[in-house]
Amino acid sequence: MGTAAGAASCLFVIFGATGDLLRRKLLPALFHLSESGRLPPKFHVLGVARGDGMTDAKFRQWARASLADAGFAAPRIRHRWCDRCLHFHRLAAEGPTAFEALRARISALEREHGLPGNRVFYLALPPQAFAGTIEGLGRAGLNRNAGWTRLVIEKPFGRDLASARALNALVHAYFREQDVYRIDHYLGKDTVQNLLALRFGNALFESVWNRDHVQSVHITVAEELGVEARGAYYEQTGAVRDMLQNHLAQLLTLTAMEPPAAFAADSIRFEKIKVLRAARALSADSVVLGQYAAGRQGRRRLRAYRGEPGVAPRSRTATFAALRLHIDNWRWQGVPFFLRTGKRLARRTTAIAINFRRTPVALFKVNGGAAPACNALKISLQPDEGFALSFAVKTPGDHFELATRRMEFRYGDAFGELSAGYETLLLEIIEGDQTLFVHADETIASWALFGPLLTKKLPLYPYPAGSRGPAAAARLRKPDDAGADD
Ligand code: BG6
Repeated sequence: MGTAAGAASCLFVIFGATGDLLRRKLLPALFHLSESGRLPPKFHVLGVARGDGMTDAKFRQWARASLADAGFAAPRIRHRWCDRCLHFHRLAAEGPTAFEALRARISALEREHGLPGNRVFYLALPPQAFAGTIEGLGRAGLNRNAGWTRLVIEKPFGRDLASARALNALVHAYFREQDVYRIDHYLGKDTVQNLLALRFGNALFESVWNRDHVQSVHITVAEELGVEARGAYYEQTGAVRDMLQNHLAQLLTLTAMEPPAAFAADSIRFEKIKVLRAARALSADSVVLGQYAAGRQGRRRLRAYRGEPGVAPRSRTATFAALRLHIDNWRWQGVPFFLRTGKRLARRTTAIAINFRRTPVALFKVNGGAAPACNALKISLQPDEGFALSFAVKTPGDHFELATRRMEFRYGDAFGELSAGYETLLLEIIEGDQTLFVHADETIASWALFGPLLTKKLPLYPYPAGSRGPAAAARLRKPDDAGADD
């Protein structure tokens, strides 16, 4: 995971080139990488879409406007980059001729700009377009070349275990696993990568990171936002597919994995897969699903999920999921992991709380009260990136009393603003490092664990928008599980 300075020059082909992802994330990230001198010396982008009437010139104009929207000043630099590096190709229709025309365009661009034949194919497409595009590339012989060829697939990878298996089989019919980059944008976040640094760069934490010392683990991804304009997409997706199977699975595996043999893609990804395989099958009583009803955020009235545009009035799609999970291995036997995610919750927070066991004997009182404090490490992934370790101290004065205080580290104070995650991911693709991407076996292990939630007939608990989620979620906990959780 370094910079792309020495990496090979390439053509970066993006399917879905007039879409939201390119406009909001990929273009700004590529432009910023270029501005900070982190792209290879020869780097060109070919946007591909069905867009009628789109041309090189119009695409560049659209890209310049998108970069301005993303807050980049200096119009002259923007113009120069767009004119020099961006190209557009209209994919006429399905079928071999369309991809053969694309192949001809790619070869022509490579000749014209003296590119060495290294290619990235980035599918920034709706999932239903993945299969046709992969097949089109493969049949036109674009799956291999004299230089390297890499395939990048955005989430979601499959809708369930069977479709993920079928998609992997199709991918592997044309591409080698070592050339496939499945995106989970959480892995691009510095704070998520820092889980590895925190655990395996500090002997202190690693020595207590197990069932002997940890009482419970709480992984929370709470969003304040509702489904916004994505109702139609979300209806088909829901919290299990949108968040649990991917983003929460990533946080779970990075928190629970064994130390890898090396800081290398295969070693790390292998350990993550082992965690998912060791997770106990989820029973119906260990899961609570919910859907937001109308509610409030301060003075603002918030509509119910069923009233959002594109959502069925009697929708049964879950916007909240909480579960109690066990990992049946030597390190974690008996330690509950609580995973929770939802839209329209009281506040935005992505955090992991490790609650340590209490002292075996309660010698002291906390603020004159009953239980002794429990040490907790609360890792805040966003916002307020950093972590806090809580511990007991003697309060000053004549009485021997304890209070709980926190030792804190904040990324912002120490290093300033964190970079946007997509920049790191794009660089890793160009450099050919798969550490931050999801392996085929990981997609399968994750679907095997979370997919069954989609077929179980589980109750759907309504919760007021702007609240902490359905009260039923509290039932998942036992009295001993208390501690820092959000
Ligand atoms: C996306 C989901 O993958 O992640 C969205 O589709 C969700 O529904 C988003 O809002 C959350 O990402 P972040 O980076 O804002 O936590």
